[in-house]
Amino acid sequence: MPHYRAVGDVPRKRHTHHLDASGHRFAEELMGQEGFSSNSSLLYHRHSPSALFAVEPAEFAPAEATPDVPLTPRHIRTRALDAVTGADLVTGRTVLLANADVEVAWVEATADSPLHRNALGDELVYVQHGRGRLDSVFGRLDVGPGDYVVVPASTTHRWLVTDGPLGALVVASRGHVAPPAKYLSRYGQFLEHAPYCERDLRAPTELVVVDDDDGAGPVPVLVRNRAGWSRHLHASHPFDVVGWDGCVYPYAFNIADFEPIVGRLHQPPPVHQTFELPGAVVCSFVPRLFDFHPDAVKVPYHHANTDSDEVLFYSAGNFMSRAGSGIDVGSISYHPAGFVHGPQPGSIEASLDQRSTEEVAVMLDTFAPLHVTDAARAVSDEHYPFTWSRRTS
Ligand SMILES: [Fe+2]
Repeated sequence: MPHYRAVGDVPRKRHTHHLDASGHRFAEELMGQEGFSSNSSLLYHRHSPSALFAVEPAEFAPAEATPDVPLTPRHIRTRALDAVTGADLVTGRTVLLANADVEVAWVEATADSPLHRNALGDELVYVQHGRGRLDSVFGRLDVGPGDYVVVPASTTHRWLVTDGPLGALVVASRGHVAPPAKYLSRYGQFLEHAPYCERDLRAPTELVVVDDDDGAGPVPVLVRNRAGWSRHLHASHPFDVVGWDGCVYPYAFNIADFEPIVGRLHQPPPVHQTFELPGAVVCSFVPRLFDFHPDAVKVPYHHANTDSDEVLFYSAGNFMSRAGSGIDVGSISYHPAGFVHGPQPGSIEASLDQRSTEEVAVMLDTFAPLHVTDAARAVSDEHYPFTWSRRTS
């Protein structure tokens, strides 16, 4: 995230002694991306963030995704997933689709998560319903329906459920999630044609400080890296940051603040792009005017995404192009490369007298094929691949 922010108590010059009134020296931490060659933030801790009491394996193994053979377009019904009692936003995820670049999961969280640090990459959490709070070393960030929340890699954080259940789609990246470069000036400011800008982004303004100077004991943090999952027992609570500044921090962007770009004739999905990440893009489909050429076909044409798999999460509204297919709020459609998808039968006719759409949907296009988990297969509508032909048995 390229925009500078500062919260709390930071010294006037970086890399200088920073003491509290009693003379206690704060520990400076640089959280930098791409070595020391990209964005970073400087955080000031009361205690060393390196002080560990123990490192342990964590008994946690997310589901494995396997190649989807035979190739199958899918309607994955998240609302049919088994409820996980006491699920939290970190350990309660049900992974649905994955490849080497991303992992797509659904979670219905009713409990607060443990402290967590994902060293694999940034996480993009789209809040579908409920409210919660992301506490991190950068402070607190309240989130609600329609929020995309970007959690930078290696941010120590926890998710609290303040009005549950908190249902969310989670895209765990193996790199960094960022606004598309095409929206940014060469210095990183959003350009005039971008569908959102700095004013639409919310970041922590208030620190979360857990004072455990009395020695509350080791504090467990669930850590994920390429090797798997571990538990680090920290000597002090990681939320001891008195101030930070820089360009790496969690932030939220609400999909309702995405300003749609419309045209006389159909605008292709790149106008809806919201984020880019290694091996994938994320687009937002929001309420907008339909194409206004008098002869415009208002629903998307058939298309073969020859170089990507397409995942659409249907968040709210009516999904005209999928009318009659069973797709509804909470559905995920998965249209892999090798399958030509298009409007459902009758949807073009149904759109003729419509002037606008109220749909809200999140799309993830991946450039490498996705694999599918057994959990996703179990809630896939077996009739969906044949809804275009109207084969019913
Ligand atoms: Fe599509």
